[in-house]
Amino acid sequence: MTGNQGKLLEAKNAFSPFGFNVEQFLIDGKVPEIIEPQCETLDDVADAKISQGLQLLKEIGKEKDALLVEDSGLFIESLGGFPGVYSAYVLDKIGCEGILKIMDDVNRKASFQASARFWDGTKVHKGNGICPGNIIHSIRGENGFGYDPIFVPLDYLEFSTDGLTFGEVKIDMKENFSHRKKALDDILLSLKNVIM
Ligand code: IMP
Repeated sequence: MTGNQGKLLEAKNAFSPFGFNVEQFLIDGKVPEIIEPQCETLDDVADAKISQGLQLLKEIGKEKDALLVEDSGLFIESLGGFPGVYSAYVLDKIGCEGILKIMDDVNRKASFQASARFWDGTKVHKGNGICPGNIIHSIRGENGFGYDPIFVPLDYLEFSTDGLTFGEVKIDMKENFSHRKKALDDILLSLKNVIM
């Protein structure tokens, strides 16, 4: 349940290999309107999203269908975790350019974080993921969405973007690091315990 095509693609890539047919949740061809409450944590927002989604499923008589929701944000260390749960609003108002203007010159540490909820038709599964990295000094790359062009993830032993931002790499490279992919993998693991 999202209006964000980038999130949808990442969900498809994570769930399709396990036989799930992932589709955007639409009612009468439209992304359903939900109220995103101003909460302190991503977990609280994700809980609010899944309960509104379940209510919508009930209203259209499809409460046995599965439903996936996710809330995510960019947390900048020198800004006390800002924009965090306000990431979508801040991106809309000041964009990546605005973030670069208010950034500390030296401490560039930041992380993307995600909290996901999956309704399997009978119960809700939870997943969380973090992607640590740094904010660079300029905007680079056309791929991805949101804050991708200013974020370089920390290297893992097996994977590196070689200093490229998420905006400069292909989605399959981003998924090696992605907070969302980690949150969705968490859910797949929890589902495995139910299915197997
Ligand atoms: P929400 O989860 O729909 O509330 O949106 C969170 C905000 O964080 C959006 O503005 C996104 O653009 C941004 N965001 C979340 N995940 C990512 C990501 O993987 N890359 C870049 N920006 C992201």
